[in-house]
Amino acid sequence: IFEASKDWGIFQVVNHDITSEVISKLQKVGKEFFELPQEEKEAIAKPVGYKGVEGYGTKLQKEVEGKKGWVDHLFHRVWPPSAVNYQFWPKNPPSYRETNEQYTSMLIGVANKLLGFLSNGLGLEEGEIKQGLGGEDLTYMLKINYYPPCPCPELALGVVPHTDMSSITILVPNEVQGLQVFKDGHWYDVAYIPNALIIHIGDQMEILSNGIYKSVYHRATVNKEKTRMSWPFFL
Ligand code: OGA
Ligand code: NI
Repeated sequence: IFEASKDWGIFQVVNHDITSEVISKLQKVGKEFFELPQEEKEAIAKPVGYKGVEGYGTKLQKEVEGKKGWVDHLFHRVWPPSAVNYQFWPKNPPSYRETNEQYTSMLIGVANKLLGFLSNGLGLEEGEIKQGLGGEDLTYMLKINYYPPCPCPELALGVVPHTDMSSITILVPNEVQGLQVFKDGHWYDVAYIPNALIIHIGDQMEILSNGIYKSVYHRATVNKEKTRMSWPFFL
């Protein structure tokens, strides 16, 4: 984990404690929400003039390196309870809330372990990085990305190249290839491993570690025939 966070800023975790059933349910309820009629999704749209990030929306971005960004998304906080705004959580499907809460409770265990390893990697006590990030107030923000099939995938990207502003991001994708990472002048595909968690080092971790861990520069491509989805949790 130390080497990967230093050299790549990204790695995948398998054999973690989150069961495949819980991951599949998270994906199922998210997909069901995005497949609702537009009016129903807009019931939790980001209100006009609202300064926060939570809610359903579409991001159409002007060209970066000849490609436009295009993605529908839903943002809402999932942890800690004091930061949660249920007004931005889908009411439909009805099991959305319970499913997301179950996933989140398991994710917190994995995140605590990862932050512990990252802390030890810097020669610190296991709990120090988490403490530096706010301890029990560390916020978990879920984003669901929904990339519809795109007739001209060479002219578009789901998300244009960026680093995440989080400390770490813990992402599960669906089975459609799309996430790419930039290293040494090349874009590399991130292999799809069923039930793996993809861990990104974000800007706050790079800063907190005085640049030892690298915030990963990444992007997501779109597919001509298939809908791609992903579930990053930003910590
Ligand atoms: C993001 C992101 C990648 C993906 O939303 O920050 O990088 O695989 N998404 O969808
Ligand atoms: Ni990202």
